[in-house]
Amino acid sequence: MCGIVGYIGFRKADSVIISSLKRLEYRGYDSWGVAVKEGNELKLIKKVGAIGDVEAYDVGNGKIGIGHTRWATHGKPSEKNAHPHTDCSGKIAIVHNGIISNFQSLKEELEKRGHVFKSETDTEVIAHLIEENYSGDLLSAVMKALEKVRGSYAIVALHAEKDELVAARHKSPLVLGVGDEEYIIASDVPAILDYTKRVVYLEDGDVLRIHNGGYTIFHDGKEIDRKIEIIPWSIEDAEKGGYEHFMLKEIHETPRVIEDTLSEYLDDEITIDASFAFGVSEIVFVACGTSYHACLIGKYFIEKLADISAKVEYASEFIYHQPPTGRTLVISITQSGETADTLEAMRIAKKRGAKVLTITNVLGSTATRIADFVLYTRAGPEISVAATKSFIAQLVVLYLITLKLSHIPRSEKVELLKELRLLPEVVKRILDSKEEIERISKLLAKYENLIYIGREVGGPVALEGALKMKEVSYIHAEGYPAGELKHGPFALLGEKTPVVASLVRDHTYEIMLNNIKEVKARDSIVVVVADEEDKEVEKYADFVIRVPKTNPIFSAVTHSVALQLLAYYTARERGCEIDKPRNLAKSVTVE
Ligand code: F6R
Repeated sequence: MCGIVGYIGFRKADSVIISSLKRLEYRGYDSWGVAVKEGNELKLIKKVGAIGDVEAYDVGNGKIGIGHTRWATHGKPSEKNAHPHTDCSGKIAIVHNGIISNFQSLKEELEKRGHVFKSETDTEVIAHLIEENYSGDLLSAVMKALEKVRGSYAIVALHAEKDELVAARHKSPLVLGVGDEEYIIASDVPAILDYTKRVVYLEDGDVLRIHNGGYTIFHDGKEIDRKIEIIPWSIEDAEKGGYEHFMLKEIHETPRVIEDTLSEYLDDEITIDASFAFGVSEIVFVACGTSYHACLIGKYFIEKLADISAKVEYASEFIYHQPPTGRTLVISITQSGETADTLEAMRIAKKRGAKVLTITNVLGSTATRIADFVLYTRAGPEISVAATKSFIAQLVVLYLITLKLSHIPRSEKVELLKELRLLPEVVKRILDSKEEIERISKLLAKYENLIYIGREVGGPVALEGALKMKEVSYIHAEGYPAGELKHGPFALLGEKTPVVASLVRDHTYEIMLNNIKEVKARDSIVVVVADEEDKEVEKYADFVIRVPKTNPIFSAVTHSVALQLLAYYTARERGCEIDKPRNLAKSVTVE
């Protein structure tokens, strides 16, 4: 997830672009850059880090330009990898948001034809493809170039000798702001609102040309009209995409995050290079907080489907335990890639001779530099302190690793991959039917104690559900494997302590139903997350949160999304400061 901007009008383009990019920093902030057309030349700046003082930069007096704020996906954050990217002649510049999945093969072909690349990004191939197809007409060169690329993109292209901008969209957002004698094109509305409230939302397959004081949109090669809409939001609302909080916005990004993470590592087959697993006799997962819960779920997948024994350790405790051997693969999971305890566990594991694979969301983070192997979640920046979409992306990577290492029959694997590809749609259905969750949260918000239970994969789902609830709503919530209730927590049951159960339709189903009955018999209100097809549960539960039926292993995703929404709405009902809970930080860089 990155932010892109293009401007054409009567103002100094660099000021408009840099201040608009700053409004898009929630989409990425590891590096940025601007290209402005001045005379028949392009002036470029590229910087590492966030933008800081908007006034501190001068990229000439040109009135046409493009800019980009980056969340690295291919190529670490550096000036060289910051956008805009240019072709060999330096006359064509482009900014891009998205992932070009076939960039490696395109790059190799272009290099064979003499193109010299300056960056490690997937984006640069587009600049070179436009160059190859350019003979005086930027629009047709962009259209021809895009015929070759696969993946997702929103781009804006600029040519040093043309008073125009050409933009295109496929699976990444792009909005055109229509001002008075000026146009601004951007990934999202906040970048536009200082200049105009009149916008056109481009659709997948649209190509836009802004030229001669007007604009034209093409679709399938033909000119089309798209409606101008008036934005009713303030800038602050707009940054959250109209959602009240980043947490809710980020939960709603989950379908896209799953798609992006899948497209990174799944083509016709899983493309993960599994050399990290050669000669490995056991896996030890290390992580903290939500990422630790992803590890617990990963252990369950790996042991069940890949038949490799796995342990999970809190990163902060790992240092005190038995040393891993040379045949151990340590897998660290860390959204930020900067959690001090996780980094320390990784360093210790390496010192003791283990191989270390990290699963992280941040390219170039410290974890990626310590690890021997790296796999990325494609969740984009997560602003809300509570991890939501990044947790689901971690699970997706764990599914892919497991299926890559698994020796289950091919037909079973194909079935599971088919279901995995359907997950974005499945999650969308949960998000579309959240009213029931909102209704239940109004009741839970009145309590001060909650217990979450589940079995097998539902166990860590319960732990994560409870963590989410306590951190955003400040309700004391604890998760237990359901079988543990009778060994102590039963004493807490009663009218004042509702229980939230994750009921998975697998071999744990019957015994979980019994546990739910036991809880009910002790007067606790019971909220159950269950399959939409499960009729039995209604007899015992006070409230049922319905999720689409999936293979039980994917219930880790469906149930977790439902529990994230439950935590969110409960916190909202209690008037909590959801995106920045008290005493917590997004990235915990102290041990
Ligand atoms: C909870 C949460 C934290 C993090 C933990 C590890 O919502 O976000 O528990 O999961 O601090 O952070 P990372 O994954 O960045 O190592």
